[in-house]
Amino acid sequence: MTLPPLLPLGELDQLAQEMGTDKSSRTHDYMRLYEFLFKPFKDQEFCFMELGVGLPRIKAASLRSWRQFFTKALIVGVDNDRRVRKFSGDDFTICIGDASDPAFLTKMAQTYKPSIVLDDASHKWSHQIIAFKTMFPLLPPGGLYVIEDIFTSFPMPIKYDVYADHPESCWTFISRLQAALAGCQTEWPALSAEESELVSWIDAVFLTRRTVIFVKREAQRPEEVERVAELKRRQG
Ligand SMILES: C[S@@+](CC[C@H](N)C(=O)[O-])C[C@H]1O[C@@H](n2cnc3c(N)ncnc32)[C@H](O)[C@@H]1O
Repeated sequence: MTLPPLLPLGELDQLAQEMGTDKSSRTHDYMRLYEFLFKPFKDQEFCFMELGVGLPRIKAASLRSWRQFFTKALIVGVDNDRRVRKFSGDDFTICIGDASDPAFLTKMAQTYKPSIVLDDASHKWSHQIIAFKTMFPLLPPGGLYVIEDIFTSFPMPIKYDVYADHPESCWTFISRLQAALAGCQTEWPALSAEESELVSWIDAVFLTRRTVIFVKREAQRPEEVERVAELKRRQG
């Protein structure tokens, strides 16, 4: 018996190849898993927000792919490089700001209410962690949060070693959250109250080469509410 592939090359990969984003199977090969996870959103009215539009050379390639794939979504791209403003009006909204600034990210989430947030911005450890801590709690139930290019958490050739700007890598941070999720939030690993609260909202984590996707629960896991409250009392 030949099994059908669970994650075949599909429309998103085709679009990514046409538009020239490195998310296609020609490079990072993210789109097969994204298609599997994003398909339920295809014809929904919702906001898809990507942190990191791509310098003019890249020509907002991923935003163009999302635009073609999602028939009714509002597509919002966030970047700190003002040159990407020229893509505004191309059927998507461009916002200029720093994707490592919690106040700015909170404003973005409150203004556009994204259901999917994809972080493809600086890939610096501190930025990835700050953006996740800020944006994941603001997603609606059932929302998705994607952290791309997580391989930057691992030793890199020295010329690329700009990512390690924080004592803990983003991979180590999310590994602790995943361990707590898998282990039903016992004493190990020790989490802060904020981290414990994040875990209590994580429904599932999908991992493949270089990218990780978090699914937000419909409601906080009831048995973890008291644990979070207790940690808040203890940690002040
Ligand atoms: C890898 S490119 C994005 C590529 C695009 N998403 C694609 O797949 O076609 C990363 C982008 O993140 C932007 N960026 C870097 N640091 C940022 C920050 N702190 N805040 C917002 N954008 C940032 C860069 O200007 C660049 O345009």
